[in-house]
Amino acid sequence: MSQELWTKVDDYINSVAIAPDAALEAASAAAVAAQLPPISVTPAQGKLLHLMARAYRATHILEVGTLAGYSTIWLARAVPPEGRVVTLEANATHADIARANIERAGLTGRVEVRLGNALDTLPRLAAEQQPPFDFTFIDADRTNLAEYFDWAVRLSHPGSVIVVDNVIRKGGVIDASSDDPNVKGVRRFNDQLKRDTRVTATMVQTVSAKGYDGFAMALVV
Ligand code: SAH
Ligand code: DHB
Ligand code: MG
Repeated sequence: MSQELWTKVDDYINSVAIAPDAALEAASAAAVAAQLPPISVTPAQGKLLHLMARAYRATHILEVGTLAGYSTIWLARAVPPEGRVVTLEANATHADIARANIERAGLTGRVEVRLGNALDTLPRLAAEQQPPFDFTFIDADRTNLAEYFDWAVRLSHPGSVIVVDNVIRKGGVIDASSDDPNVKGVRRFNDQLKRDTRVTATMVQTVSAKGYDGFAMALVV
């Protein structure tokens, strides 16, 4: 069982479940050309997010961590034309590339890329009294994951779903003495999640072309 096999199987999954898609392929190519880190969700993961958001009939979606807008495009395609995706990004270069990718995908009308540290933009969003979000995807730095999740719950309604990427970190998450800031951030989030009576949650381990990791899913009750 190896990365080589996981990548081959992801190629196979792509051939079965993911149709050729000019906008998504252009978004990935733009991310590569700009030398952004290769950490977008995989096609299969992006489609899973899309299918979840569609199955829950989400019309208002929040994303924390845009990068090149690859996952944003999958999510924005899940909402009706009058729906809305707000995606938060701290890096101005990433936000610019994402806006261009989202424009190319014909989704500018439903997506707002908000530039700024999510620790600032989340409370600002809460102060705006917009409709609550039906679905949230958290995929930014792990150090402040606990704070992002808390804001996501506050910005939700009972029945909203929150998905958190990268909560397993090659299994590093079980190491209580780890000094990896990502592992520490995930563990602090998990301690909070365990006590959080606003949600019921689970975590699933995954392997993919991006290695061994996993995601959490929480339902706001
Ligand atoms: N969701 C994207 C990948 C996001 S990568 C996809 O799957 O296509 C993580 C992104 O989070 C990076 O672009 C990084 O700049 C951004 N980020 C990191 N810290 C942040 C913060 N404090 N606030 C907002 N965005 C942040
Ligand atoms: C990393 C970040 C991600 O969002 C991801 O999906 C994979 C890896 C990282 O920072 O290493
Ligand atoms: Mg991720």
